[in-house]
Parts: sequence; structure tokens; C-alpha cells
Amino acid sequence: MNIDNESMNIDNESKNKNDEKYMRRAIEIAKKGIGWANPNPLVGAVIVKNDKIIGEGAHLKYGSLHAERNAILSAKDNLEKDDNIDSIEGSTIYVTLEPCCHYGKTPPCTEAIIDNKIKRVVIGSRDPNPKVSGKGVRILREAGIEVITDFLKEECDALNDIFFHYLKNKRPYVLMKYAMTADGKIATSTGKSKWITSALAREYVQEIRHKYMGIMVGIGTVLADDPLLNCRAKNISNPRHPIRIICDSNLRIPIDSNIVKTASRYETILVIADKNLNMGEVVAEDIKLSTTEKGEKLNFLLDKKIKILNIFDKNNTRIDLNSLMKYLGEGGMDSILLEGGGILNESALESGIVNEIMSFISPKIFGGGGKSPVSGNGIDEVSDAIKLSIKDIKMIGDDILTCYYVGRKEK
Ligand SMILES: NC(=O)c1ccc[n+]([C@@H]2O[C@H](COP(=O)([O-])OP(=O)(O)OC[C@H]3O[C@@H](n4cnc5c(N)ncnc54)[C@H](OP(=O)(O)O)[C@@H]3O)[C@@H](O)[C@H]2O)c1
Repeated sequence: MNIDNESMNIDNESKNKNDEKYMRRAIEIAKKGIGWANPNPLVGAVIVKNDKIIGEGAHLKYGSLHAERNAILSAKDNLEKDDNIDSIEGSTIYVTLEPCCHYGKTPPCTEAIIDNKIKRVVIGSRDPNPKVSGKGVRILREAGIEVITDFLKEECDALNDIFFHYLKNKRPYVLMKYAMTADGKIATSTGKSKWITSALAREYVQEIRHKYMGIMVGIGTVLADDPLLNCRAKNISNPRHPIRIICDSNLRIPIDSNIVKTASRYETILVIADKNLNMGEVVAEDIKLSTTEKGEKLNFLLDKKIKILNIFDKNNTRIDLNSLMKYLGEGGMDSILLEGGGILNESALESGIVNEIMSFISPKIFGGGGKSPVSGNGIDEVSDAIKLSIKDIKMIGDDILTCYYVGRKEK
């Protein structure tokens, strides 16, 4: 192939401008793995030669090929179709996360980059995984490859809030989501909340459900709304349903609720707090001899394929949310969408398990004694407020969506 001198001698300024364009493309491609890659990271890669994209790839599914290898495969595929591309050699790869250098479910990506004689690697996020961190970059540099790091780092990091948090803490990343009116109400004084936001915002939330491994509510929301808590995203084919987690210390869940009726279709965990039962998973053995109403109800729910967890706090009154997160994290759950209501939201914030808040504000006023997104007694001093930092603000239809990190951003 003829590479003309003009395209080879791209000056530094335009090279930087194009770097940004290609890394932004890699960020977009990374999103193809949303909902499927967990608990692995979202990663996108773009291969460019002579200022032209010759290959693209994402980490599409947990356990499948990494983005760099998919991009190389797609470039090789394009080589066969396009007479103007003769090899990957001498190209630049833009990758949103530092390439791996260890043998996991797939061989190291650094090896593939070196073997294919890619001459420049532009990286967004550093991989916090101790098996990779910095080592991927070093191996590439030692092979004589030019490596640019921390490029559009913030945008690339934002792709993987869940992965970074889970890797570091082995606890699910918790996103608290609520929809409120312009006067800060998540339900009317009679407990009605359907619907506060527009259909567009509700579709957006369905897509978020696809992204999160778990969805959690308190029994108050089940009693008030009788929700399904599955994923009904119209724009995603075969969306992934999150595992439903219901916090119900006193086993108040109605046996004819939608949650119970659909438990054979959608994985469900009911969390209770009962000091008379062992901590952890409640199995049929634990209650088989029980003739109490509660024992019979537990048996009924187990028969319906509902997993029951008993996780009480030190006062033996309520579910201990920190212990619950530990249990779920150790079981492989990397992320939870917390969909309230106000009582569980307050408790979750107080326990320190919430990482991010997604607040929809709709152009409506309920007034009166409607419910607030965070109940409880609140604080007396302004200086005691829980501090948030804004991650993103946008309009979705007529609603305003603000996303906040709770406290300092976790990495
Ligand atoms: N607009 C929105 O975004 C939105 C979202 C959700 C709900 N809502 C509305 O909010 C209302 C329900 O709010 P809610 O506050 O009553 O419901 P909730 O927060 O979903 O449920 C509260 C219940 O969860 C149980 N729970 C178990 N463990 C807990 C713990 N560690 N900390 C706190 N609670 C725990 C408690 O009952 P036990 O002690 O018996 O277990 C508590 O009463 C409904 O009107 C619903 O429509 C609105």
C-alpha cells in the first residue's frame, strides 16, 4: 500500500485533534458492552492508519475477547475487503483502558499489539487491577511502542465507575435513582407516584436497569406500587434483567404481589431480619419443621424460587445494609440500582453504601405532605449535609437529570 507523505506528516496540532476524535469513538464503542461485560470493565478500541479507522472493537461480554483483540480482528477482516489497507503494521490503537498483560480468560492484549506491529498506543484509563496497573504500559514501551497515557482520562474513567469500585472494594457500586417533582416529592401524600417523569425518562431508566446487576427497593415500595422491577428497555434487544432485591425485615411481602408471581421468571432475593434464624441464606432445612405462619410463608416463597437472605443488624430490628452489600459483593454482584423509596434511601445513605445519585426532576408540583426522596429526621446543621459532586446534568425530554457522586469520586 502507498502511504503518501502528506498523510504521514500530520502535524502535532491536527494529530492531537484527531487523537481526541478517535478516543471519543473508542468511548462510544466501549458502551456496547453495557449490561453484558459485568463484572468486567467496559472497554473500546479503535485502530487508525493514515488517519482512517481500519478496525474497531469492544469487550462485548464477560469472558469473551477483549476490545483490543476484537479491534485487531475487525482490522484484519477489513484488510481483506479494502485494497487500500495492506496491514495493521504502523497503525495507532486508541484504547479506553490500559491493555492487559496477564493471562486471564483470554491471552494478554499487549502481546497482540506487539505481534501486530502497532506503533503507537493511546490509553485513556489506567487499569487499577494490580495484575495490570502500569505493567501493560511498561511492556509496550519496552517493545519500542510509543505510548500516550491518561488521554481523555476523565471520560474514560467515567465508563468504569462500577468496575473500579468493585475491584477495589468487592462491594456493589450503588446508584440511587429517584424521580421527583419540582417541589421535591417522589409521591403524592396518598403515596401515588405513577408517573412523575415523562415516557422518555422512564425508558432511560429501563436502560439503566439493563446496566446494573441488581435492583433494590424497600418493602414500602412493593406495598405501594406492586412493581415488577424487570428490564423493559425497548431499545435493547433481549435486555438483561437485574436481580431483584427486596428489603423486607418483617416478611410483609404479599404472596400475590407481582414480585412473588413473577419470581420464576426474574431472579429475586428477599432480605429479612430475623434473629431466630441463622444469618445468611435461609434454606428449606432451616424452616422445614416450622408450623408458624411465618415459617409457612417462607416455605411458600422458597417454593416460588425466591432466595431468602437473613441479615439483621446489631439491634436485631432491621436489615444491616453493609453486611448485605458484603454478602452480595462476595457473591459476584458488582452493581445495584437502588430505586427507593425514601425510608430505604435514607438508610442506605446513612450506611454509606451509596456511590452515586441519579435525580430526575419533572416540571410538576405535588405540594402538601408528599414523600421526599430521603426520609428520616434529617440533620440540624447545614454543615452536616452529605456532600455530593456533580457528575453530569442533562435534559431528557422535559425532565432534568442530574447525576452526583456521593462524597469524593471513588476510583
Ligand atoms: N418517585 C420515585 O422515584 C419513587 C421510587 C420508589 C418509591 N417511591 C414511592 O415511595 C413510597 C414508598 O416509600 P417508603 O419509604 O415507604 O418505601 P421503601 O423505602 O421502599 O421501603 C421502606 C421499608 O423498607 C424496609 N426496610 C428493610 N430494611 C431496611 C433498612 N435497612 N432501612 C430502611 N428500611 C428498611 C422497612 O420496612 P421493614 O422494617 O418492615 O422491613 C421500611 O419501612 C411509595 O409511595 C412509592 O410510590 C417513589
